Amino acid sequence: MNDMMSPSPAVATLAPCSILAGIGAYLPARVVTNDELAKTVDTSDAWIRERTGIRQRHIAGPDETCAVMATRAAEAALADAGVAATEVDGIVLGTATPDQAFPATAVRVQGALGCGGFAFDVSAACSGFIYALSVADAMIRAGQARCVLVIGAEVYSRIMNWQDRGTCVLFGDGAGAVLLRAATPADGGATPRGVLSTHLHAQGALGDILYVDGAVGQPDKPGHLVMNGREVFRHAVAHLAGAVNEALEANGLAIADVDWLVPHQANMRIIDAVGKRLGLAPERVVVTVDRHANTSAASIPLALADAYAAGRIRRGQLVVMEALGGGLTWGSALVRM
Ligand code: UT7
Repeated sequence: MNDMMSPSPAVATLAPCSILAGIGAYLPARVVTNDELAKTVDTSDAWIRERTGIRQRHIAGPDETCAVMATRAAEAALADAGVAATEVDGIVLGTATPDQAFPATAVRVQGALGCGGFAFDVSAACSGFIYALSVADAMIRAGQARCVLVIGAEVYSRIMNWQDRGTCVLFGDGAGAVLLRAATPADGGATPRGVLSTHLHAQGALGDILYVDGAVGQPDKPGHLVMNGREVFRHAVAHLAGAVNEALEANGLAIADVDWLVPHQANMRIIDAVGKRLGLAPERVVVTVDRHANTSAASIPLALADAYAAGRIRRGQLVVMEALGGGLTWGSALVRM
């Protein structure tokens, strides 16, 4: 066993580890402010800021499909890693807003990038990126792939009921991607790098507190997001803090070891409450909900890319990510960058 797989009990028996070799993002050019929304729905900038922390969101134009945005984010992650598309073995894409029932958006991305290997979507709503990362990491550990693009991409603007002020002010569009690759001895050292652990959960009994009330192929009911916000809020705070503690315990680490929490960006009040429960200083929490709003499966890779591009998240740092979404689904990922 080489030194990069040693100290954490959670990874000691699992090899090889997968490294986040590149990070990329794409946001639509069009920015919609709270004031702009208040012209068409009974809301106000003050209410949205106070209850959610959101100031604005990016909204996709007609040509900015889920696949187009995912492709742009993937290209950025490949460029950051210095890896050619032809070296990619597979694409795992988390989305709840695919362009079509099939082919999977991941397959469209594969076609656009011109890479080979496997490609499929993962449907876990706002937890989609954590689920996709977990699947891709497991495939690399199992030796099924060496280089996998993990993408979170969403166009929630297409499933909004723009008359429902309780939901339409909360979401935005965008895509984020990471390139995961199998660790090599050159990645080793005193501190192991890569995905240390992922933990996934679902509670199907709560499927009706956040769902889409229609489907592709139902012309009279194309599908709008429906949410009991208070109920989701209540479950989010408890589950998300629990998922972070579960990750730390599995790796024999404490919250003081964490450099950054990259939470799902749904609501500033949820982010603050989770940080408080964990005993984590606000300066160690990455926040983009003010600028991006809730981009579901894209929110974590977008936040990761934002903090990475700003030079805040750096190689060698310990980053914990958590998300909760429709299903309910929730989970965490602990990563040494
Ligand atoms: O990413 C997936 C996970 N999703 C989440 O984590 C979302 C979790 N939930 C939340 O973030 C919050 O529950 C919301 C932001 C959705 C709502 O905040 P809240 O503090 O729970 O508000 P509420 O639903 O209890 O509504 C309070 C009041 C209501 O008016 P009344 O009944 O007290 O007169 C709403 O009708 O605020 C009203 N309201 C609004 N007012 C102005 C709801 N939406 C709006 C709005 N503008 N956009």
